[in-house]
Amino acid sequence: MKIGTPLSKTATKVMLLGCGELGKEVIIALQRLGIEVIGVDRYKNAPGHPVAHRAYVIDMTNAAELKALVEKEKPDFIIPEIEAIATDMLAEIEAEKLATVIPTARATQLTMNREGIRCLAAETLGLTTSKYAFAESYDELKNAIENDIGYPCIVKPVMSSSGKGQSTIHNEADIQKAWDYAISGARVATTRIIVEQIIDFDYEITLLTVRSLNNTGEIQTSFCEPIGHIQQQGDYVESWQPQKMNATALNKAKHIAKTVTDNLGGRGLFGVELFIKGDDVFFSEVSPRPHDTGMVTMMTQYQNEFELHARAVLGLPVSTALKSAGASAVIYGGMDKKAIEFSDIEKALTIPQTDLRLFGKPEAFTRRRMGVALAYAEDTQTARNNAQVAANLVTTK
Ligand SMILES: Nc1ncnc2c1ncn2[C@@H]1O[C@H](COP(=O)(O)OP(=O)(O)OP(=O)(O)O)[C@@H](O)[C@H]1O
Ligand SMILES: [Mg+2]
Repeated sequence: MKIGTPLSKTATKVMLLGCGELGKEVIIALQRLGIEVIGVDRYKNAPGHPVAHRAYVIDMTNAAELKALVEKEKPDFIIPEIEAIATDMLAEIEAEKLATVIPTARATQLTMNREGIRCLAAETLGLTTSKYAFAESYDELKNAIENDIGYPCIVKPVMSSSGKGQSTIHNEADIQKAWDYAISGARVATTRIIVEQIIDFDYEITLLTVRSLNNTGEIQTSFCEPIGHIQQQGDYVESWQPQKMNATALNKAKHIAKTVTDNLGGRGLFGVELFIKGDDVFFSEVSPRPHDTGMVTMMTQYQNEFELHARAVLGLPVSTALKSAGASAVIYGGMDKKAIEFSDIEKALTIPQTDLRLFGKPEAFTRRRMGVALAYAEDTQTARNNAQVAANLVTTK
C-alpha cells in the first residue's frame, strides 16, 4: 500500500459521501494517515466539512450530480456514510472502475432498503430473523399481521433510518396510525413497508465486524467486543462495551456477522445489529460503515471504529483489541434552533474519566443528536452511569 502527499499529483484521495458525526471521525482518521479527503453532504457546514480538504454540497440522491463530482475529483475510494445515495450510480462508478466503492456498490444497494438486506439474510443466507412481511396498503398490512406476523409487531418504511416512520402495533386499532406514520416517515416517496414480529429480546448488540487485509494480502474478518445499547423511538440513546454474552450466543453472533459480511464483500467495517434472547441470536440489520452505537470505541479501543474503517479501506492491518470498558450517552438538541450554545461543559467534564464530542451541527432539533458523552471505567455499569451524568449536565440554549 502506497500513500502519496495530499494536494499533490501523488495524493491518495478519498471521497466521503455524508459528513455527519460519523463521517467527521472517519475523515479525521484518514487525515492522520495523510489522505486527501473530499467531504460531501446535502447541507453546508456539515460536521465533517471543516476537517476535509474540500467540501461540497450536492444532492447525493441525484445520480448525475454524483457522477459529475466523482469525475471532477477522481477519488481513489468512495466511502458512503449514509444510506440516502444514488446507489445505482455507485454501481456504475464501480463498474467503470472510476473509484473503489466501500465496501462494494452492491452492499450499499442492498442495505439502503430493508427489503434487500432482510431477504438476503433470511432467505438467501438462511439466518434467523424476526418473522416479517412486506405490504403496500393498509389491507395488505392487516392481512399480513392477522395471517402471519401476529401482535405485537413493528412497522417500518423499507427506506428509512434512525427510527423514522417506525411504530409498534399492539392491536387492530393501531394499524391505521402505524400505516399513516410509516408512509409519512419514509425517505423516498413509497408506500412499501416492512412489518416485523417483535422479538422480546434480553438485550441487543452491535457487533462491529472488520474485513481487512492480512499480511499475505487476503481478506480477514475480525470482531470488536460486542456493544450493548438502548434505543428509544428507534434511535440509540446509550451504548456500552463490552456487553457480556454467553459463549453460545457470542459464537452465533459471530457466525451471523461473518456470513452476512462475507456475502456483502469488500473491505471496511460493518455494524451488525443483533437481538439476543438466551442462546438465540436474531439478525436485525447491518450498516456497511461505522455505526452510531460504536462511538463508544473512541473511549474503549486502541483503534476506534473510524480508524478501523480507514485502515481496512486502505488495505492496512487492524487491531480490534479492547483498551477499557466504557460507555456513550447521547446529547440531544432539546429544541428546534440554529446556532445553539452548549453550557456547563466544565461541570460535565468533572465526572471522572469522561470526555465529550460536540458535533458542530449548524441547526438543532429537539431530538437531533448534537453530541455524545463518553466514559471509561473499571466496569461498564460505572461507565454507563458516568456517561449519562456527564451528558445530562450539558445544557443547551
Ligand atoms: N423486530 C423487532 N423486535 C424488537 N425490537 C425491534 C425490532 N425491530 C426494531 N426493533 C427496535 O428498534 C430499533 C431500531 O430498529 P431498526 O434498527 O430496524 O431501525 P433503524 O431506523 O434502521 O434504526 P437505525 O438507523 O438507528 O439503526 C432496534 O435497535 C430495536 O431496539
Ligand atoms: Mg438499526
